[in-house]
Amino acid sequence: MDLTHTEPLGVAVVGAGYWGPNLVRNFAASGRWDLRWLCDLDRDRAAAVVGRTSPTRVTDDLDLILGDPAVVAVAVATPAATHTAVALRCLEADRHVLVEKPLASSLADGRKLVEVAADRGLILMCDHTYCYTPVVSHIAGLVTDGALGDIQYIDSVRVNLGLVQGDIDVVWDLAPHDLSILDFVLPPDRRPVAVAAHGSDPVGAGHACVAYLVLELGGGACAHLHLNWLSPTKIRTTLLGGSRQMLVWDDLNPAQRLSIYDRGVDLRVADDEGRRQTLVSYRSGAMVAPSLPEREALAGVVTELADAITERRPARTDGAAGLRVLELLECADRSMQAGGRSVTVEEVGN
Ligand SMILES: NC(=O)c1ccc[n+]([C@@H]2O[C@H](COP(=O)([O-])OP(=O)(O)OC[C@H]3O[C@@H](n4cnc5c(N)ncnc54)[C@H](O)[C@@H]3O)[C@@H](O)[C@H]2O)c1
Repeated sequence: MDLTHTEPLGVAVVGAGYWGPNLVRNFAASGRWDLRWLCDLDRDRAAAVVGRTSPTRVTDDLDLILGDPAVVAVAVATPAATHTAVALRCLEADRHVLVEKPLASSLADGRKLVEVAADRGLILMCDHTYCYTPVVSHIAGLVTDGALGDIQYIDSVRVNLGLVQGDIDVVWDLAPHDLSILDFVLPPDRRPVAVAAHGSDPVGAGHACVAYLVLELGGGACAHLHLNWLSPTKIRTTLLGGSRQMLVWDDLNPAQRLSIYDRGVDLRVADDEGRRQTLVSYRSGAMVAPSLPEREALAGVVTELADAITERRPARTDGAAGLRVLELLECADRSMQAGGRSVTVEEVGN
């Protein structure tokens, strides 16, 4: 099949539920893309999303999309359990693929997708949406240029009421956000190496609706993730403590999403006439709230997909990044099955 890349590039979105319409809106708004199709098993739902006047066609038949030679890429926004089947059909039809998080519903399936894409020279990108937000780019910059110093801890709360998923538990639903953010902002030797997880299902959903993950980071620091579908209020707050500065990211406060504190604790061991003493001093300096642009992350996602295809290079959140997240999710699964024992990435990787 001819994959010449003349812009605007033809694209189809599969899945018109809660998230798919956001992809539809961003592909339709981008001059880089020609949104040709929206596919959903529920054709009426797809029709309602595109509206009557849109040139985008709707279908419930993926083969119709794959039979359109102008479609060079497909974005998959169906439930996680269906990602592999849908994405595999698209890759095998020589289409570049953007898959929603999590890349697949198992590490083995994710590997298969990465392998097929590599064999065929296709772009496989995972929608790790937060990696395209101005706030996460800013945090990554602070980590990279050393402004925060050594990372000492990370603590994230991602809780709300619902949406209880039928096919995956709260860890596979919400943790990909935090895990992909960590993957993006931390240097490779500081990324998570082990996970201890506890989960519970107090409403009888059949899988965990509340979970707590403790991640061991390379270099010895630790991260804690609180994931909950049963919280009365929505909270999206991350603390990141560094030896130089600390930050609080409150994603629900657009007026001050990020606060960077020149605060910390310094320990010094003093020898006072033969008596060793540990001296603790607290640094309590200024707080800075950087001004960040308000930009929709998905606009960055669709641009990155177009760039990766035309420049023939891996996307910023490529299949390999998707696999690293899947490894940690599998660690969490195994840990919960083993009563919370810490499970290493090495154990699930082999
Ligand atoms: N990146 C993000 O921030 C973000 C946020 C929410 C959801 N998501 C992801 O988006 C995906 C979809 O989630 P959702 O909440 O929109 O789910 P949803 O259940 O609301 O919608 C899924 C849609 O896919 C359709 N569908 C199912 N199987 C299909 C198939 N084989 N072919 C065509 N259509 C099919 C369903 O009819 C439904 O309309 C999930 O992977 C989820 O993790 C990502």
